[in-house]
Amino acid sequence: MPANSIDNETVEKLKGLAQQNGLDISGAKVRRSSSRFCLGVEHGDYNGTELFGVATDRFIWMAYKPNGTDRIKLFSGNFPDDGIVEYKLGDVPEPKSAAISETWGRFPYGIDYILRREGYQLKQGIDGVIYGNIPGGGMSRSASLSLNLILSLFDASGIKIEDKMAIVDLAQAVENDYIGSPCGKLDQIMILFGREGMGTYYNPTKRSIDYVQLGAGATDFRIVVLDTGTERPGLEKSTYKIRRGECEELVSILQKAGYDISRLADIKDEAMYEKIMTEFGVDYPDLCDRLKYIFAAQNRFYKMLEAWKAGDVETVGVIFREDGIGLRDDYKISGAELETMCDIVRTVPGVLGERMLGGGDKGASGALVQAESVEAVQQAVETAYPRSCPEFADKYAVHICKVVDGIRVYEGLL
Ligand code: GLA
Repeated sequence: MPANSIDNETVEKLKGLAQQNGLDISGAKVRRSSSRFCLGVEHGDYNGTELFGVATDRFIWMAYKPNGTDRIKLFSGNFPDDGIVEYKLGDVPEPKSAAISETWGRFPYGIDYILRREGYQLKQGIDGVIYGNIPGGGMSRSASLSLNLILSLFDASGIKIEDKMAIVDLAQAVENDYIGSPCGKLDQIMILFGREGMGTYYNPTKRSIDYVQLGAGATDFRIVVLDTGTERPGLEKSTYKIRRGECEELVSILQKAGYDISRLADIKDEAMYEKIMTEFGVDYPDLCDRLKYIFAAQNRFYKMLEAWKAGDVETVGVIFREDGIGLRDDYKISGAELETMCDIVRTVPGVLGERMLGGGDKGASGALVQAESVEAVQQAVETAYPRSCPEFADKYAVHICKVVDGIRVYEGLL
């Protein structure tokens, strides 16, 4: 099936979910939002680095139709026990309410809250049915859901936003201010701007997006996502929040010492970096380790971009692996099962690089793999992972991914 079409099974699934729950999606549109795979700098977004990544073909699909009322009615096939999430426009729980912290409904509630706060008036409610196959942890399921809901609600109310970066900001605000997750902008950018076959390059200083085609003559490779089957709680409940805090603490210590920086990414100069490590390495060894990773990964980022443009996937893979070692040893954001996956695939011939993905602790690792070695990777994981992590033997999965458009809308299917 071509990467950008929608399969019958998904359409039937959406129809069935609507029927079982008394929701009307006849003639509805379907919006598909992707997952994302970051090629660099992982954990760079909230530290101010440039970013590069792609949209990948694990998705959330949402069929939705304006219902002419002031009520939103949504059902997720992934969280059937939550039942229909239903509310009146403008009538949602307060941000970070304990009562909703374990339900997926906090995303639509949060969107209602943030859109209203930012002055957007939704004109009418929708009936909507959602279904997705993005694993939790590592591939940005939450950003995909937030973007899908925002775009669909805007569409249903005829609201058009030219500046796509404003949508990124809204989706981030839903997570930061309503849900309480301290995420950056990486996920939203890579999904919203993602294009088939292209890498998306974001420059935070200019807030600009450029597309970078993989250079001609590149080795045929696959992006492989190694879902460990572990569940990662929200970023607000994980090491992520601690690392963010540590990075901010180091920035503030350095500012007080007279360094003219506002983010760790501002430390680009080798001499400045060496001076900081000498001055602060003894008193703040852990904070300096965080800087060590960011500084090295930021340097590698530019080499990685050049390698991508040149079609030199082998070098992209080497850098991906080096980033993984920095994330494991210096940034200390990986997790036991994530590293088990990396250890299993690292020595398989044809694996160009591997590392943990995304927020950290749990979730998925990723690998860049020569196309002809994908089967060997699958076999290695099938043999070794259940032995090393028997409690996840029924839950782990290997996803072979394509680079696709981040957002697509389909009409005339329902
Ligand atoms: C999570 C966050 C992103 C980013 C990555 C790490 O996915 O949501 O903002 O910080 O972790 O690169």
